[in-house]
Amino acid sequence: MNVIGMISGTSYDAIEAVALQLTLRERTVHARLLGHVSVPYAADLRSRVAQLLPPQTTTIDEVCRLDTLIGQSFAEVAASLAQSCFSGDVDVVCSHGQTVFHWVENGHARGTLQIGQGAWISEATGATVVADVRSRDVAAGGHGAPLASLIDVLLLGRRPARVRGALNLGGISNITVVGPSRDPIAYDIGPANALMDAAVTWLSDGAQTYDREGSSAARGRVDEVLLAEFLAEPYYDAPAPKSTGKELFHLKYLTSHLGERQVSHDDIVATLCELTARTVAREVRDQGVSELFVSGGGTRNPVLMQAIRRNLADDATSISLIDDFGIPEAAKEATLFALIGFLSVQGLEGSIASCTGAQHAVVLGAIIPGRQLITALDESLAPVNLVFETEGSGEFS
Ligand SMILES: Nc1ncnc2c1ncn2[C@@H]1O[C@H](COP(=O)(O)OP(=O)(O)O)[C@@H](O)[C@H]1O
Ligand SMILES: [Mg+2]
Repeated sequence: MNVIGMISGTSYDAIEAVALQLTLRERTVHARLLGHVSVPYAADLRSRVAQLLPPQTTTIDEVCRLDTLIGQSFAEVAASLAQSCFSGDVDVVCSHGQTVFHWVENGHARGTLQIGQGAWISEATGATVVADVRSRDVAAGGHGAPLASLIDVLLLGRRPARVRGALNLGGISNITVVGPSRDPIAYDIGPANALMDAAVTWLSDGAQTYDREGSSAARGRVDEVLLAEFLAEPYYDAPAPKSTGKELFHLKYLTSHLGERQVSHDDIVATLCELTARTVAREVRDQGVSELFVSGGGTRNPVLMQAIRRNLADDATSISLIDDFGIPEAAKEATLFALIGFLSVQGLEGSIASCTGAQHAVVLGAIIPGRQLITALDESLAPVNLVFETEGSGEFS
């Protein structure tokens, strides 16, 4: 099946899209990655998304307008990828869209809203579109996150001989843990780049939106007193399953912790970088992870990666990129959604209840029919493996 997966993450930096040929044979998904693009949002659209997100308030007409504009942007990317990779012949597009609000109350997800109307994608490509991928899991009592647990469990194995973790460093950090004698678990750890990005954007008056190559963090020194205050955040001690987002970790959160304190710009960024490293390292250690596979934009920040390694130096944890499984780290999230679309149109479950905290696994998403309807398969055919048929792939044990 020719499938496109797409997402703009919590960092709303770019639309990530992949084109994959997916085949299900004997409970293994065989994947061929034909294309991956990262298309930055137009500057105007990006600043309107920023204006929409908490703690800002918005209007329902702006929500409608951005739902259309984001849907059209996704549609344009999907159509061009469909053309270049499938000569226009794409069966399924699964679009995560843009999260604008993730409603968590008393440790439970109550609702989640992703915008970017999928009808535009269907109209532009003729494909069956799967959108609104998180809501059904929320309705089943789950957090609707981290959905990455699906691809993580398929790649790392449901019960590998050693404890393995898959860590994604996007706006938020999340982890999936699998091991020999446990059900897989997954949860959001805390801010990965969200607070660093907020700090850099604020301190540079918008001239920069992230700490490129970690240069500011490298110049700064960690302010241990400030760091201790950040680490006192109750979210970190809350039990999994749990999810969070920019509803909590936004600029006001940062400035209220800073208060009247005089801290240099570089020291602020260095401290936030260390906050990400410490919170991540703590979970990796507490979960007894011996092999960690990392993905997301944070892997491109050498200072952050170095800080994570330093914080785990006493533990026997090997750290590598998810690329070891044949999938470039930057394409992982979009690939997840391609996989979800592939399963959903065939009536197969895409969530892992022990990871999202739901009562049971569900078929994810809302479907917008395309040119042709796709036949549902029996759940007994559901895959238990994912293999990338690209260079560097293969069984990994
Ligand atoms: N070269 C780089 N140097 C430092 N940070 C980077 C670099 N490239 C990406 N990032 C960080 O990664 C973030 C985007 O990561 P991404 O995985 O796309 O997150 P999301 O899924 O939340 O959109 C950027 O906002 C930035 O903070
Ligand atoms: Mg992104």
